[in-house]
Amino acid sequence: MTQDDMKKAAAKAALEYVTVGSIVGVGTGSTANHFIDCLATIKGRIDGAVASSLETATRLKKHGIEVIDMNMVDVMAVYVDGADEATRYLHLIKGGGGALTREKIAAALSTKFVCIVDESKMVDVLGDFPLPVEVIPMARSYVARHFVKHLGGEPVYRTGFTTDNGNVILDIYGLSIMEPVKLETELNHVTGIVTNGLFARRAPDVLIVSGKNGIQTLT
Ligand code: A5P
Repeated sequence: MTQDDMKKAAAKAALEYVTVGSIVGVGTGSTANHFIDCLATIKGRIDGAVASSLETATRLKKHGIEVIDMNMVDVMAVYVDGADEATRYLHLIKGGGGALTREKIAAALSTKFVCIVDESKMVDVLGDFPLPVEVIPMARSYVARHFVKHLGGEPVYRTGFTTDNGNVILDIYGLSIMEPVKLETELNHVTGIVTNGLFARRAPDVLIVSGKNGIQTLT
């Protein structure tokens, strides 16, 4: 079983959380793309989808799934998305694809946040994967210096990348994140940061981990 097969299996398992007649929030990335393909098989039974990125919106539309503006939605019954790292405490690093801000808004709007990963994403401590931080372009140097002086880690500018919101990304290498809720809260207060890639304050309600030995569901 390849890693991609495992991603597909996790995506398929998430379908069980989709309820008839609901609006489904959809994440970004290769695992989320598999979920979109699965969702297409039941598209007649949902009212539409909310996309966490332009890339996801394009894929949903290609499948003939109606994409609804996030502002038109009070609440989503379920939001399904992948992650770059996850712990058994259901804390995540996301944003490897740069869609972290819209993903975090979608997670906040959802009643049930279902995260789908293959087993390679599971870690004991977050931080081997560089933490993505979306920053207002003119604050890039200030925020980078703030990390070096006060928070640790090595900020690296993601060259040539602009988010769907017109901002830039700093990837913070070398962190060992022992207290994800605390760090997420601290980063929420740094001027110039739009969003950080820690999903710990609004953690998933369900984490579906797909491995060589099958599916494990953590809650
Ligand atoms: C997108 O910005 C990310 O948060 C993705 O959800 C994350 O990078 C997982 O992507 P893959 O499913 O491609 O590994």
